[in-house]
Amino acid sequence: MFEIKNLKASLADEDKQILKGMNLTIGDGEVHAIMGPNGSGKSTMSYVASGKPGYVVDEGEVLLDGVNLLDLDPAERAAAGLFLAFQYPVEIPGVGNMTFLRTAVNAQRKARGEEELNAAEFLKLVREKAKSLKIDADMLKRPVNVGFSGGEKKRNEILQMAMLEPKMCILDETDSGLDVDAMKLVSEGVNALRDGKRSFLVITHYQRLLDHIKPDVVHIMADGRIIKTGGPELALEVEHNGYADLLNEVA
Ligand SMILES: Nc1ncnc2c1ncn2[C@@H]1O[C@H](COP(=O)(O)OP(=O)(O)OP(=O)(O)O)[C@@H](O)[C@H]1O
Ligand SMILES: [Mg+2]
Repeated sequence: MFEIKNLKASLADEDKQILKGMNLTIGDGEVHAIMGPNGSGKSTMSYVASGKPGYVVDEGEVLLDGVNLLDLDPAERAAAGLFLAFQYPVEIPGVGNMTFLRTAVNAQRKARGEEELNAAEFLKLVREKAKSLKIDADMLKRPVNVGFSGGEKKRNEILQMAMLEPKMCILDETDSGLDVDAMKLVSEGVNALRDGKRSFLVITHYQRLLDHIKPDVVHIMADGRIIKTGGPELALEVEHNGYADLLNEVA
């Protein structure tokens, strides 16, 4: 179970609070979606949960199976099973995509006390997963995300997720910039990982993704907190009416 409890967080170098008492509970195997206006704190929430520097936690907890992730460093959070697919994936010049994936996978296996994958095992696995996401051998050899198109970067995030097999996956606008076919591929990649135990938090602006990745619960976030929670119909309501009515309800 993934729980965010009364999370309040500010920017480290400015006296500005972005998250203002966020609460969220995602049970094992559940898929939740978060929608919300630009600047409402969706990415900030995923950064604070995963341990990106630059934020100060003022109050609250982020728990994965009862362990407060906020007490751990980012690598430990990943080893505990948290994964974030970035809204804006970063380019890492000089680090081959394949090397990056193998190092990450084996670091996590080691941290969990599992056997590391040897070169042959890793290659077989990465080729199989890459194929299903239509990521070609050339993209695996290039430096991480360097020169990748917007959509290729997003697919590469999903490849990382498929390789790491995290317990809790946060996808921050993974659909933005994807063409319709790539959106289907990515959704299939996500759906293939659904196993009744793994949980997902899908941040998106568009109902269309949610046609493919069917969420159990939809949350609306505004001004640093969840203002409404409902079923998939909430996403349709947003698509048709925008956020004005929802924001007025809580004003
Ligand atoms: N490092 C920073 N410096 C200044 N402001 C920041 C910083 N990080 C976040 N913010 C501000 O915090 C607010 C929340 O940003 P965040 O990226 O979390 O929004 P979001 O909900 O993900 O929006 P979007 O839908 O556009 O991705 C914004 O007003 C943003 O400008
Ligand atoms: Mg964002």
